[in-house]
Formats: sequence, C-alpha cells, structure tokens
Amino acid sequence: MKKLFNLYLMVIMTIFLITLSACETKQSVEENNGTMPNENVRSPKGEIKIGFSMDTLEEERWAKDRDLFREELEALGAEVEIMVANENAAVQLSQIETMISNGTDLLVVVPYYTETAAAVVEKAHSAGIKVVSYDRIIKNANVDLYVSFDNEKVGELQAEVITDLVPKGNYVYIGGSVTDNNAILIKKGVFNVLQPYIDRGDIKVVYDQWTENWTPENAYQNMLAALEANQNQIDAVIAANDGTAGGAIKALEEKGLAGKIPVAGQDADLAAVQRIVEGTQTMTAYKPIRNLAKKAAEIAVAMARGEAFETNRKINNGKIEVPSVLLSPIEVNQNNIDETIIADGFHTREEVYGN
Ligand code: BGC
Repeated sequence: MKKLFNLYLMVIMTIFLITLSACETKQSVEENNGTMPNENVRSPKGEIKIGFSMDTLEEERWAKDRDLFREELEALGAEVEIMVANENAAVQLSQIETMISNGTDLLVVVPYYTETAAAVVEKAHSAGIKVVSYDRIIKNANVDLYVSFDNEKVGELQAEVITDLVPKGNYVYIGGSVTDNNAILIKKGVFNVLQPYIDRGDIKVVYDQWTENWTPENAYQNMLAALEANQNQIDAVIAANDGTAGGAIKALEEKGLAGKIPVAGQDADLAAVQRIVEGTQTMTAYKPIRNLAKKAAEIAVAMARGEAFETNRKINNGKIEVPSVLLSPIEVNQNNIDETIIADGFHTREEVYGN
C-alpha cells in the first residue's frame, strides 16, 4: 500500500514539473519576442563592429572626436575601425568599401563632400548596413540618422555677439568650405541675425567669401583681399571656425589691426582660446565634443543592435526628413572660459593661460 502511495506521489510530482517547465519555456519565448533584434541587425549583442569614416584630422577638434568616439564605443562593448580620407571624396568612398568588406555592422560617416557622399549610403544600404551622419549631414540620401550640433545656432551666436559690439559698420564674412553643409548652415545663422541690420543700412557686408577646404592660409588670403579692397576700413569679422579666424587675425596683425576689430570663430581650438585671453579674438562657439561622441556612440550601438534610441529633430537633407539629434553650441568669451572649457576638461588651465 505504501509502495503504491509513493508511486502515486512520484507521478503527481513528475506531472507538476513537466507543466512548470512548459510554462517557463512559453514565458521566455514571449520575452524574447518583445526585444527581438530586427532583421537588419547583422551581429548579436556584444559583437558590434562600427566603422568610423572621417574626412580630416586637420582641425584640432577632429582628433578629439576620433579619440572620444572610440572611447565611448569601447565602453559600450563595441569594436571600432577608423579611417581618415584626408579631404578626398574618392578616398573616402574606397575606405568605406574596405570597411564594408571588413564586416562592419554600422557606418558612422563625417562626409568630406556632402553631396557626393550619398553614394556611400547606397553602397552601405545595399550591403544591409545602416549609416549615421556624424557632425556633417549627407545630403540627398536615405541617411538613417544625423547627430551634430545646431550649426545654424553656431552662426547666430557668433553674429549676436559681434552685432552687440558693432551694431553699425563694415563687416567681413569669412565662410567655411562650400563642400560642407555645416558651412552653409553657419552662414545662414549669421545672416539670420545680420539681415535686419543690413536692411536698415546699419551694417554693410563688404566682403563675403567661402574658404576652400577651411584652411587658415586661404582665410588669410581672403582677409588680405578684404582689407585691400576696403582700404582697411573693416569694423568686424565673422569667421566660420577658429582655423579661418586664425588666418584672418594673422592678416589683421600685419596691418596693425589685431585686437582692434572684433573677430568671431568656432570650435574652441586651443590657439583660439589663447587668442581670446590675449584679446585678438572676441569669441568662439564652443561645442563640447565629448557630448557628441557619447550620443553618437550610444545611438550607433543601439541601432546596430536593433534597440530603441531617442532623437530630438527631423532635418531635411533634400531627400528625406532625417531623424536627428542636435546638441547646443555655447558662446565662450573672456569671461566664461573657466566655467566652460576648463571646467569640462576640454583644455587645461595651464594650456589656456600658460602664455
Ligand atoms: C565642423 C567644424 C570644423 C570644420 C572644419 C565643420 O563641418 O562643424 O567644427 O571646424 O568642419 O573641419
């Protein structure tokens, strides 16, 4: 009788255990369904490889972008391959092809030539790889995401500071490279602010030129031409970045005008911040690169893994409304270097004030 009872108990226990394990299996299938990676995802979690295609390392900021982006990606467990095209669209395309054949899961691109980079997106998409536009947008293409600073705002900040100081007079605009959509957006921002002054006849833009490849040397030549054409009668200069501002200030120095005319720049390059301390440059539009690198890394990894991420804008690139994340630039002048650039560790106090 006791044996019969034990047998009965074992049967009941076995049925109970079988039912329990069936329930667990069902539950784990349902949980998986909720977070199933989408079909475009090429790698399982933990094995993401990101290809970072850069245009240039000429300006100081790009070395920060390279190092910080790598750091942020590695902290998220991703692998990164970085290639720099040295301002050559054909080289950039072939480097991207190499990254695709090296098995990259997602491409992050700083395009050299905004317009032609569209070919890159097509190449990547046909290999099932998504493309994130980093800092500069790729135009006329189905870019998957754009992450940058608000470049129009950069121009507005510059012009607001300079028009406060010089509400009337002769202005020189030293633009960036016309191949770069950021240069166009920055100029738009500058003229958003200048236009009412121009319309009232208070401000006259006596010189307005793009700077080929953003080089300080070309900006220097442009500034010399502007001074010459106007018999040195210039009251203010807005330059699209600190490299071009440096070129313009060199020309002003040669005419004994450095420090006498307000000059705006962008990027918070160390040399520019030192010029702000010395008084030959008025302001720079500072962009905390760590924030950009961090945001881009988080999104790139989430996108490659098929996970959700947030955007805050839609930017039209001539073809589609690109889901975008735009961060804010910050005005830096003599009065707030410590609480911005130095507090962020962008440059050290010794570097900035060492001279
Ligand atoms: C960037 C600037 C940089 C310039 C030249 C622009 O696209 O936004 O920060 O100075 O390129 O490299």
